[in-house]
Amino acid sequence: MPIYFDNAATSWPKPPAVRAALDEYFSDAGGNPGRSGHQMSIAAARLVENSREWLAEFFNVKDPSRIVFTHNATHALNLAIYGLLRPGDHVVTTSIEHNSVMRPLRHLEASGVQVTVVPCRPDGTLDLDRLDDAVRPRTRLVVTTHGSNVVGTLMPIKEVAELARDRNALYLVDAAQTAGAVPIDVQELGIDLAAFSGHKGLLGTTGTGALYIREGVTLRPLMRGGTGSDSAHETQPDFLPDVHESGTLNVAGIAGLGAAVRFVREIGADVVRAHEQKLVSQLIAGLRRIPGITIYGPGDATLQCGVVSFNVDGATPSEAGLILDEQFGIMARTGLHCAPSAHRTLGTFPTGTVRFSFGWFNTTAEVEVSLEALRKIASWAARKRGVATWTG
Ligand SMILES: Cc1ncc(COP(=O)(O)O)c(C=O)c1O
Repeated sequence: MPIYFDNAATSWPKPPAVRAALDEYFSDAGGNPGRSGHQMSIAAARLVENSREWLAEFFNVKDPSRIVFTHNATHALNLAIYGLLRPGDHVVTTSIEHNSVMRPLRHLEASGVQVTVVPCRPDGTLDLDRLDDAVRPRTRLVVTTHGSNVVGTLMPIKEVAELARDRNALYLVDAAQTAGAVPIDVQELGIDLAAFSGHKGLLGTTGTGALYIREGVTLRPLMRGGTGSDSAHETQPDFLPDVHESGTLNVAGIAGLGAAVRFVREIGADVVRAHEQKLVSQLIAGLRRIPGITIYGPGDATLQCGVVSFNVDGATPSEAGLILDEQFGIMARTGLHCAPSAHRTLGTFPTGTVRFSFGWFNTTAEVEVSLEALRKIASWAARKRGVATWTG
């Protein structure tokens, strides 16, 4: 059996209930939701609204219409960032963000939005005092990841939310890596906006995501078009979720996402978190025993999500990744992980790292097999370098 350690890119496998939900859509509800009054359209609308309600409940969102479906977390982040920021506004972010935050911000910077990037420590952790120093009276938005996709570092999002609120700024959380894998209660955490991937920890299919928008926060839409509502008017409806859901939705994917969320809810995000923490601890402890391996990030499972980055001395990340895949059937992601600034923070730019990212379906036995493979790779790399340090 192949070993899939690339759940931070997209999770695999998906629960059988997700396939069943896709099947249900295609066989019983294949219409376009909200567009017609016939039964297939109504059935499709019901699938979409059920999924919205399940997602809302999962993140403790009182009003489901404040969950907007998107194609992925990138789409959700763009909707929040472009929907809020105007020339003259100031935005604060951190140096470990994914390009789905960095690229929109850098693009807006060219049209007069001021951007401050707070440097994180080399393990990806954030110094809250530095964040506090960066916030100004014109700061409209603070945006941070919840869990780094490179080293897994978890951000103190409750504290950041408090800091942003005290300074009259809104707080957008990039929860691409944590939704479904770390408990998130938006009320309790005091988050204003949160971008979710539907296809990573939430275990839905690719092409799904969502944005949570707190009551009282209004965003300009990214797109305008048909919504199936208010059709007599040529202007965009102004009510949620329709204002941000122009065009035909990915109904099959959204139905699958609803089934996936129910699956994760039944397990419990806290149980998923504990499982991934166990795998991370096991991997880090094993890697520490292998000469020639450098681990990046906190190196402490309590401080990171299910993501671990490392390098093997004498092998480039892509060499190590290729051997893991071709010789051992272990799928990992290597390189810069769409986060060049994060790698600059770690000191691993431009070659990057090897990243293992875990999900609910990974096991301790798989981690053991991968550690054995890495022992062999490190030993080979040491021989290649002519360094006789191998003791394993
Ligand atoms: C931290 C982070 N933010 C955003 C994204 C973008 O997510 P999506 O692939 O759903 O667009 C990713 C994807 O890996 C990510 O890791």
